[in-house]
Amino acid sequence: MHGKLTAEQKQSLYDDGYVIVKGAVEDRLVDAALDCINNTERPNILGTDPSLTNLVNASSITPVVHDVMGYFDPPKVCQVGIRPVGKPSDRFNNLGYRERDMPYFASESHVDGSMTIAVPQEVQTGTDDEIYRRYIASGPNGDLGRSPDVIGHNMVPMFQDPDMTLGLGSFTAFVFVCLNDQSVEGRGQTSLLRGSHHEVEGFFRWQRDTNNRLGVEGPGWPRLNHDAPNRCGLVYLPEAVRDKFVDGDSESTPDGKKWPRPTQILMEPGDACIAMYHIPHSGTRNEFGTESRKSIIFRLRNKKRQPDKMVNGVTDHPDRGQRGEWLEFESGNNPWERSKYAMCNMWHEWHGMHDTVAKNKTVNANATV
Ligand SMILES: [Fe+2]
Repeated sequence: MHGKLTAEQKQSLYDDGYVIVKGAVEDRLVDAALDCINNTERPNILGTDPSLTNLVNASSITPVVHDVMGYFDPPKVCQVGIRPVGKPSDRFNNLGYRERDMPYFASESHVDGSMTIAVPQEVQTGTDDEIYRRYIASGPNGDLGRSPDVIGHNMVPMFQDPDMTLGLGSFTAFVFVCLNDQSVEGRGQTSLLRGSHHEVEGFFRWQRDTNNRLGVEGPGWPRLNHDAPNRCGLVYLPEAVRDKFVDGDSESTPDGKKWPRPTQILMEPGDACIAMYHIPHSGTRNEFGTESRKSIIFRLRNKKRQPDKMVNGVTDHPDRGQRGEWLEFESGNNPWERSKYAMCNMWHEWHGMHDTVAKNKTVNANATV
């Protein structure tokens, strides 16, 4: 593995929104990470152990991402994505459907950075507004009404900004590092909606041009789906994006609703997937694995977005503290507008992609005349 993506790999990243780098992490680093997960008395599931963060900090991933994206804070924390082997269950998932009814190994494709309060396991009653009020009151901070101080059980604020115009946290890149054999579908691997980053960026631009409210609770993106079986499912993907990826190949839930078919990313230990923030993704059910699925997930933000703020490597809402604390920004630095700009201009923070993007824009322009 060299310290750069090839031109073909950059083209894949442009087209698909992600690229798999084979053998990005050498065996000794994979082994050390597995030791940390498997062999300690209490497995380190908090992701602070250097043997886990070294998967990025001491591997070829750091120079590769420096080249294709730019500088980022070396991660101090990561998400330890362990999924035990499991059978379909009757629980309501975050979308408000029975887990067993959700196609594609119960994939819940979502744009990252949205507040998730655990969805109710009983079918809800009352008006849509009553269900909404009850839902947003059931997070860790209690009943604050509709407020940017509401946070989810995933620690993400309901809105990033005081004026409640930004319903998503944002960063620049994901890195998924694979630690076990995920070369066969159904082993709990991450799934991605290939190519949908272009649509997501276009949708953000449409929201910006409509009323500059981006993400959840902006135009075209209600927070809750009251038609879901529990009457209180999260809308993890705006319908306008979903609809673009529904076709004859799409599978349905029992209510007849079709869901876009994601791509399961097939990797082996030491492989890594570098993906855009903009790409909808999901973990999946580990139905056919012989062991728990083990992926270590990093969220990186180009340092240029906020040079004075440290990003820890795991947060999907770095314009606020990990638990939603308000951060200080110097006057003239509007973090919400900077993040909206990055959401609407998805290659802005990928400095090593500018030539590839320019080439593709030229090709597309020529194709339309
Ligand atoms: Fe996610």
